[in-house]
Amino acid sequence: MRKNIVAGNWKMNLNRTEGIALVEDVLAKLPSDNNTHVVLAPSFVYLHKVAKMCANTSKVVAAAQDCSANKKGAFTGEVSASMLASCGARYVVLGHSEKRANFAESNEILKTKVGQAFRNDLKVIFCCGESLSQRESGVHFDWIKAQISESLFQLSSEEFKNIVVAYEPIWAIGTGVTASTEQAQEIHAFIRNILVGQYGEEVAENTSILYGGSCKPSNAKELFASQDIDGGLIGGASLSSDDFVKITQSF
Ligand code: PGA
Repeated sequence: MRKNIVAGNWKMNLNRTEGIALVEDVLAKLPSDNNTHVVLAPSFVYLHKVAKMCANTSKVVAAAQDCSANKKGAFTGEVSASMLASCGARYVVLGHSEKRANFAESNEILKTKVGQAFRNDLKVIFCCGESLSQRESGVHFDWIKAQISESLFQLSSEEFKNIVVAYEPIWAIGTGVTASTEQAQEIHAFIRNILVGQYGEEVAENTSILYGGSCKPSNAKELFASQDIDGGLIGGASLSSDDFVKITQSF
């Protein structure tokens, strides 16, 4: 059975005090019988603190928002996967569209980053998704297939168990426009089918595929009720403990 996962991507928001307060609130508000796997991805600079706060509970684990494609050395400003692991991160988000767009991250670079993450026992939340113009011109299926196959299909079936896929249509991120449940389900089923082709039914059925893009308490329930939507990668709504916890309880 695949996991239901809700991951909060704080992006470049919240200072340390605000971040700590948010984690405290999320931990306090999550019900004790919570069955959702909850992940929080704060900024690098207080990842260690967040991981420590979560270490005493089985409720939440910490993630980084990125890692370097390089192992170590003269890469000023970069953060390696081994540094993240040593700070308590359990996951790393890779291939977010903002990183792809602002830092020219190619599928090839992401393949290298996935390798670094795996060598350091980090699970990967791998983001993919199309722009509005790609959707309108009908190339979005091929685009998403290339993103997944070129960055992930070097992995063995065993390794792929540590991948979570996040489908995030760029036109829905931070815009307030959510993909309709039908649009999201269509792509999630397409992604699962690609995984069946590469790894077989069992791996595909056990892979969690998250939806991201203006997901909020008012639409999470309907999205998560879809057959192939196993949770969400939440940006804006993860900055409110009330909204975020409500989303985690939307299955
Ligand atoms: P959003 O962001 O929920 O603010 O649209 C999602 C994301 O970028 O991961």
